Amino acid sequence: MAPKYHAFVCTTSRPAGHPRGCCTSKGGGQPLYDRLLQKFQQGMLWEKGVSIAQASCLGTCNAGPVMVVYPDNVWYQIKTAEDIDEIVASHFGQGKPVERLVFNP
Ligand code: FES
Repeated sequence: MAPKYHAFVCTTSRPAGHPRGCCTSKGGGQPLYDRLLQKFQQGMLWEKGVSIAQASCLGTCNAGPVMVVYPDNVWYQIKTAEDIDEIVASHFGQGKPVERLVFNP
């Protein structure tokens, strides 16, 4: 069965001082993807029809750290592991995006 959602987490890292910055230097990137991967490995995502992937720059560096969920085209500004947990429970679990974390790219 094809997944219902595809979640892409930017894990881009750029050198310090780069004019665009990056999601990793803003406290996101790999650690937040790892939290999502942890949920996946706990059986909380694929079984709900969610696939996940690491992404290179999604082009919204100013809003970083970011994650986008398709096909909903919902863009999240994620700061903490708890934000990931809330998205998993609400968006993937109940089909309700977490509005407080949504931004318009
Ligand atoms: S570095 Fe993450 S969106 Fe550009």
